[in-house]
Amino acid sequence: MALNGAKVKKLKKTEPAPDAAALLAWYDRHRRVLPWRALPEAKPNPYCVWLSEIMLQQTMVAAVGPYFQKFVKRWPTVHHLARASLDDVLRMWAGLGYYRRARSLHQCARIICAEYDGQFPPDEKTLIKLPGFGAYTAAAVAAIAFDQRANVVDGNVERVVARIFALRAPLPKAKKALRDAAAKLLPADRFGDYAQALMDLGATICTPRNPKCALCPWNDRCRANKLGIAARLPRKTKPANKPVRCAIAFALFNRKGELFLRQRPPEGLLGGMMEIPSSAWEERKPPKLADVIKYAPVPTNWRLLPEPVTHVFSHFKLNIQIAVGTTTHAAKGWWVNPDKLDNEALPSVMLKIAHRAVEGL
Ligand code: ADE
Repeated sequence: MALNGAKVKKLKKTEPAPDAAALLAWYDRHRRVLPWRALPEAKPNPYCVWLSEIMLQQTMVAAVGPYFQKFVKRWPTVHHLARASLDDVLRMWAGLGYYRRARSLHQCARIICAEYDGQFPPDEKTLIKLPGFGAYTAAAVAAIAFDQRANVVDGNVERVVARIFALRAPLPKAKKALRDAAAKLLPADRFGDYAQALMDLGATICTPRNPKCALCPWNDRCRANKLGIAARLPRKTKPANKPVRCAIAFALFNRKGELFLRQRPPEGLLGGMMEIPSSAWEERKPPKLADVIKYAPVPTNWRLLPEPVTHVFSHFKLNIQIAVGTTTHAAKGWWVNPDKLDNEALPSVMLKIAHRAVEGL
């Protein structure tokens, strides 16, 4: 049998699956201390579990930590969050990306207060109907907050399962098979701990590169380990190259050196967030100086900075030139001191543009 050109030994199909008890015993000793986790023996707080799971949907654990702390400090319960304005939530979310999550979070908090008396429903089927929930988040909240039997499968879990069963079918096609295989491993109790144990195993031992198989509580039952192919699984189909969109951003400053910002429309990409005005983001040749005149929101002394800012979104790359200009006129929007940009609901791409524009002023 060959995998990526290398020969690997064949293994019998009759081996026993790994048992949850070994993993749970490992978790009891090695669980990560994370800000949203209850102490061992303590009851999880469904609000914290939900908030962390929404933040963790497309963001790494390390990046989520400070955002989670800021949110629970400002809005300690779902009632507090439901009473907050959407603009404040977007402002606190700025930098975490995928801003639709912040709008769904806020909408969900309002529904939980208005229709569920501030209590999250404990079952996956009801949870999945709420804004911001998909199959993963519904399963994670049901298991972690309410200890319900749920098959919680994220990227870490897919990797562990692909290795345990030495599944060679590439992702993303193999998602369903990996999910079915993960269901076979579910324990009889401690569903919340088990879900988090699998995530911790994937994050600390069964890592994408250089897995630490010698330290793994499941190494004796892991087919990929026995075959010596753990580091090469799961296989992945190479994603298509992202298209490149080009545009010009117009960084307008007033006499006080304040930068002009405005709010984006509520729906669509970066909906409701603040922005520096720009031409449309389109798949086209990089704009030239002559285009500045064509697209500029106001006529002034525009000057094009030499280097564009680049930013990678989920579906495309943005290559955005920056034009810098000054004006003495009022404009419909906000003038913000460049030292105070962190207080605004500015997505990372806009912060990059703002900093570059200030440097180039
Ligand atoms: N990734 C997503 N949810 C998580 C959790 N509850 N603990 C650790 N990593 C996670």
